[in-house]
Amino acid sequence: MAKIILTGDRPTGRLHVGHYAGSLKRRVELQESGEYDQIFIMIADAQALTDNADNPEKVRQNIIEVALDYLSAGLDPAKSTLFIQSQIPQLCELSFYYMNLVTVSRLQRNPTVKAEIQMRNFETSIPVGFFTYPISQAADITAFKATTVPVGEDQMPMIEQTREIVHKFNTIYGETLVMPDVLLPDNKACMRLPGIDGKAKMSKSLGNCIYLSDTEEDVRKKIMSMFTDPNHLKVEDPGQVEGNPVFIYLDAFCRDEHFARFLPEYQNLDELKAHYTRGGLGDVKVKKFLNNVIQDELAPIRERRKKYEADIPAVYQMLKEGSRKAEEVAAQTLADVKQAMKINYFDDQALIEEQARRFQA
Ligand code: TRP
Repeated sequence: MAKIILTGDRPTGRLHVGHYAGSLKRRVELQESGEYDQIFIMIADAQALTDNADNPEKVRQNIIEVALDYLSAGLDPAKSTLFIQSQIPQLCELSFYYMNLVTVSRLQRNPTVKAEIQMRNFETSIPVGFFTYPISQAADITAFKATTVPVGEDQMPMIEQTREIVHKFNTIYGETLVMPDVLLPDNKACMRLPGIDGKAKMSKSLGNCIYLSDTEEDVRKKIMSMFTDPNHLKVEDPGQVEGNPVFIYLDAFCRDEHFARFLPEYQNLDELKAHYTRGGLGDVKVKKFLNNVIQDELAPIRERRKKYEADIPAVYQMLKEGSRKAEEVAAQTLADVKQAMKINYFDDQALIEEQARRFQA
């Protein structure tokens, strides 16, 4: 069976290094591995609208931002199909049929939806579209016959729900949909990077993100202002590395080779951590090292971005072609689904003949 990837992001803001460490970098590796027959990367604008109905302009502006983040991170339209969710009408049709296979109480139990409802203070005024977005996500995944869905841990309940829909559909209508598997990040530190202020999550509203599109100087300033161990006041004090954002970022990004290049007094991160824990290692030194490591990671991304920014119409053209290609694939799946459900009346010669005989008798 073909190995197919589908994943994506809501275009509600520029992507930050948390997105990069947690998913983008991995996608590029998967793309370069040559192990997958097809890779679909979706800008989930329709899903973004489920809780931004009053602000379509935000979604509209961020489509190009996310597309530029994708391209500069190394996703290559020659190898991966990049497309925009709202341009694939088949996804709505599939969702409509899948809705019959999911109960309200099952949706209410979806932990991610639950958490998001709380976070947004929706309480009793939950938009129906938002409430049902796990179903539309099942349509996204199954439309492309995805076998593999690389996402963060927070998306696990969505994949679980998709698998239930696939199982139910195939049980009722016959083997039609492909059962997807989740692919979680392999590096623990990559699962969720904290904000530069030490808060659990990078978020635009908290203003604690390092964006892929930040300038070199912005990144340096942000890193030098990062929250560390609040009890590490003097250089000679012992410091704590657990929960210390500077070390969490190093866990995510630094490799032994970075020590040889930027901080040769240490062989590896374990040695640096041991020194910090023991005392005698200042935050500024560690932050300067982290800055070197992150700049090294971001430099090629910045270079590629410049090239794509110079021809924005070409980026839209690429998305248009990707969307056309994605629609072709989704249309085939929808045809399979309608056939399985026996609602493909005009293609069903046996039905037409059977009805003809019935009325002649
Ligand atoms: N829910 C995902 C997010 O918030 C975006 C998304 C929409 C997605 N459809 C998907 C991810 C299908 C993986 C597969 O980032």
